[in-house]
Amino acid sequence: MPTQSTGLSCPRCSRTFPASPAYLDLTLSSGVQQRVYAQRSWGGTELFRNPLVSFAYERGWRQGFAWAGFPGADKEYDMAMSYLLPAAQGRVLVDMSCGSGLFSRRFARSGSFSGVVAADFSESMLQQTREYCRAEGGTSTPITLLRADVARLPFATGGVAALHAGAAIHCWPNPQAALAEISRVLAPGGVFVASTFLTATAPLGAVLGDDAVRPLSRAMPSPRASSMRYWEEAELRDLCEAVGLQDFRRQRDWQFILFAATKPRPSGA
Ligand SMILES: C[S@@+](CC[C@H](N)C(=O)[O-])C[C@H]1O[C@@H](n2cnc3c(N)ncnc32)[C@H](O)[C@@H]1O
Repeated sequence: MPTQSTGLSCPRCSRTFPASPAYLDLTLSSGVQQRVYAQRSWGGTELFRNPLVSFAYERGWRQGFAWAGFPGADKEYDMAMSYLLPAAQGRVLVDMSCGSGLFSRRFARSGSFSGVVAADFSESMLQQTREYCRAEGGTSTPITLLRADVARLPFATGGVAALHAGAAIHCWPNPQAALAEISRVLAPGGVFVASTFLTATAPLGAVLGDDAVRPLSRAMPSPRASSMRYWEEAELRDLCEAVGLQDFRRQRDWQFILFAATKPRPSGA
């Protein structure tokens, strides 16, 4: 069962984070009354805070990603585990932007990790995760439900063995800031594993080469301008390298890509 939060106080910044019966809320505005300032909302984040969307997510919405080549949760779980296990077996795994917890629950059921942190910005997604966990019964691996913004992770620098983010980077408001934060929290040798949508030209690019189809890709009306973006493989590789993650590996099919990159160990370590 997901652990219940009891509230926390931070001795460094003197902030207190109130208790919630469902999850621990470590977002910036947790427990803070803001009189005037309102955060500008971002579609890729706000959409999933809608309780109806959260309810529908694992009841058909997520399965709909098959159009892009997503092979389905069981296969994606197997693919992710092949990268996660070497870095994080027996350690705590963070499932960032966990949604309704479809992977968090599988990770916990595997018994391969000492704990799973199921983290998301959406309160209603965390509620869904909690309900699915309850309905499915307990696992020997504890699942901690955490409300957090991917661009401000409440983890110590170098403290995370592995971070998984299924089908989420295209929703994040600032992927570059998010990846910098993920790189910060990863331990040396730690791994980041993520899946997302490639651009509509990716299937052609798989045959002719992505460089060859880039002009076509750039000329097409693109979700780049909207609150969700589709990616070129090279952009994902660039982002990882820019934040110091190395050894970019990937598997792709049609517009689906699952990739992994590793936080290097200091030389001589
Ligand atoms: C399409 S869902 C993916 C859910 C699940 N990981 C999967 O593989 O199906 C994207 C998730 O990203 C989360 N998200 C969006 N913006 C976020 C942010 N700034 N910080 C953390 N999570 C965010 C949403 O709440 C949503 O649950």
